[in-house]
Amino acid sequence: MCGIFGYIGRSEATPILIDGLRRLEYRGYDSAGVATLANGVMELRKCAGQIASLTQMVQKDPPHGTSGIGHTRWATHGRVTDENAHPHLDQSGKLALIHNGVIENFQQLRDQLLSHGHTFRSETDTEVLAHLIGYIFDGMGGPRNKQNLLDAFRLALKQVIGTYGLALFHVDVPDVVLGARRGSPLILGVGKGQNFIVSDVSAIVAHTRDVVYLDDYDVVSIERNQFDIVSLAGADISFQVSKVDFTTEDVDKGAYPHYMLKEIFEQPNAMRDAMRGRLSTEECTAKLGGLNMSSRELRDVDRIVLTACGTALHAARLGECLIESLAQIPTEVEFASEFRYRNMPMNKDTLVFAISQSGETIDTLAALRESKRKGHRTLGICNSVGSTIPRESDGGVYMHAGPEIGVAATKSFTSQVVVLTLLALLLGRIRHLSSAQGIEAISALESLPDLARQVLDESARIEELAGKYTDAAGFLFFGRQYNYPIALEGALKLKEISYKFAEGHPSAELKHGVIALVGPDVPSIMIAPDDAVYEKNINTLEQIKARKGRVIAIATEGRKQIAGLADDIICIPKCPDFISPILAVIPLQLFAYHLAVKLGCDVDKPRNLAKSVTVE
Ligand code: G6P
Repeated sequence: MCGIFGYIGRSEATPILIDGLRRLEYRGYDSAGVATLANGVMELRKCAGQIASLTQMVQKDPPHGTSGIGHTRWATHGRVTDENAHPHLDQSGKLALIHNGVIENFQQLRDQLLSHGHTFRSETDTEVLAHLIGYIFDGMGGPRNKQNLLDAFRLALKQVIGTYGLALFHVDVPDVVLGARRGSPLILGVGKGQNFIVSDVSAIVAHTRDVVYLDDYDVVSIERNQFDIVSLAGADISFQVSKVDFTTEDVDKGAYPHYMLKEIFEQPNAMRDAMRGRLSTEECTAKLGGLNMSSRELRDVDRIVLTACGTALHAARLGECLIESLAQIPTEVEFASEFRYRNMPMNKDTLVFAISQSGETIDTLAALRESKRKGHRTLGICNSVGSTIPRESDGGVYMHAGPEIGVAATKSFTSQVVVLTLLALLLGRIRHLSSAQGIEAISALESLPDLARQVLDESARIEELAGKYTDAAGFLFFGRQYNYPIALEGALKLKEISYKFAEGHPSAELKHGVIALVGPDVPSIMIAPDDAVYEKNINTLEQIKARKGRVIAIATEGRKQIAGLADDIICIPKCPDFISPILAVIPLQLFAYHLAVKLGCDVDKPRNLAKSVTVE
C-alpha cells in the first residue's frame, strides 16, 4: 500500500506535494518521489527512504511547476531501491505515473512491451503500466490533447488485471493530471483554482474540505478550474461532493511527540464520540440507525459472522464474547483473508459485519464482497467516513474516532469495541435482557471515558516500568474470556512497534506448551482484573512464578493478593467484567509505546508495516 498525491493549481507544487506526502507517510515509507511540470519540462526527484530523505533532496534542487504528482511507497513488487521508487516514466520519458496497488498481469504486459523494444529501469509493475499508457498514447497519432491522453489511459486500464489507485501527467498535455481507481482508495479534492487527487482526505484538509470519494472504475481528470469524472468505458457518471468533517488540527500531532501517544490519549473522547446519541435511557438500549434494520429483522438474526484483519480482528474477538454473552446469538470470528476463500456455511439469517478502521483493507473488502455476492446482509463497522467498505455495505456503524495516523491502531480498537458493545446491548435488549440490565450496561458504558482517563494518568509510571524491561528477549501475554483478545492485542502492539517477540494466549493454555518459553528472560503480562476468572488467572500466575518467570499484572485496584505475587502491577479501576478489556488494553498500549521509545524505535512508522493494507 502506498500514498498518492496529485496537484494542479497556481502555487508551486513541490511544497504542497511534500506536505501531502508527510501526511500520507503512514501508508508506506520505503521510498518517496515527486514529479512536477513547468514550461514543458518534467522534473523528477525520488529516492529510497522516508519523506525526510526526499525533502533533503528537493531542498538542494527544488523541482518547479504548478502541477505535479507525489508518492510514498510500501514495497510490493520490487525491492526498496531508488529505481523502484515512484513516479515511473514511460518509454518516451514524458509520462509520469504513481500507483497504489498491484498489477497482477504485469509480466505478460511487460513481455509484450519488451517485444516492441521497450526497456525498463525498475522491477515494478507500475513502470510497466506507465509504458503501456505511453505506448497507446503515442500510437494514437491524433492531437496530443487531454481527450486522447484520457482515452489512452482508459484503454490501457482495460488491459490491466489487478488493483490500482493512480495519478499521472504527460509533458505534452501540461494542464491536466489524470487519476483512476480500482480496489485502492482515491479521492478528488475540489479547491478554488486548484484541484487534488489523493489516497486519503487527511492529506488535503489544509487546502480543501470538499471532496468526491471516487468509486472503482472511475477515471478523473483535474485542471486548475475544473474536473471531470467518467467511467472506464468513457461514459459520464454522477457523483456527489461531500464535506470532510475534520480539520488540520485533527491530523496534526499537537504537543505530543508521536501520533500514537496522541491517539492513546484521545481515547476517552473517541469513546464518547462512538456512543454519542446512541444510548437511550428511556428504552434502556442502544440505537444504531445506520444498520438499516428493523427490530423484527434484528430479532430474526440467528448467527453473526465478524470478519476483519489485524487489530480490528482482535476487536471482533471481543465482539464475539460480548454478543454471545449479552445477546446469546452464536457469533463467529474469521480472518477476512480466510473468509474470502473459505466456503463458510451460512444461512439466510446470518448477519455479517466487516470491521475496519480504514474501510479500505483489501482482504476485509474482499470478504464483504464475497458475503454480499452470496446474498447475505453485510454491514460495516468503520472509522474512515466515505471509505469503500461503508459505501459497499448494506449499512453499518461509523466509529467516529477521528483520523488515526499512527500505524499501530489504538483509539480505533477501543472505539470498535465500544461500537460492538452497543451492538451487543441492542441485540440483547430485543431478546432476553431486561430494562434493568439495559440501564446497568448503559451506566457502565457512560462511566467508561472517565475510567479510561484514570488509566491514562498512569502513563508516567508505566514509562518507568517499561524501562525495567528493555532487556527482555520477548513477552508472553495472558488473559481469559473478555481479556483473551486483549492478550492478543497487547502482544500485537508490542511486536509491531518494539520488534520484541510477543505472543498472546488464553491463560489456561500456559500449561499446554507455552510454559516451555517461561523463564527470567521472557516476562509475562497477566491481564487479571477482578472478574469471574480472577482466581483462575492467579493459578496461572503462580505457575509462571514457579518457573522463575517475571510477571507484570494488569489488575483491579485494591487487590492485595495479586499485588503480592506479581513483580510489577498496573492497576485499572473497578468496573463490570465486560468493560474491563477496554480499560485493560490502555496500559498495554502505553507499555508498548514507552518500551519502543526507550529502544529507539520509530513508533509512528514501524518497519515493514503500513497503516492499511490495500493489496492482497
Ligand atoms: C494493517 C495495520 C493494522 C490494522 C490492519 C487492519 O495490518 O498495520 O494496524 O489493524 O491493517 O486495518 P483496518 O484499517 O482494516 O482496521
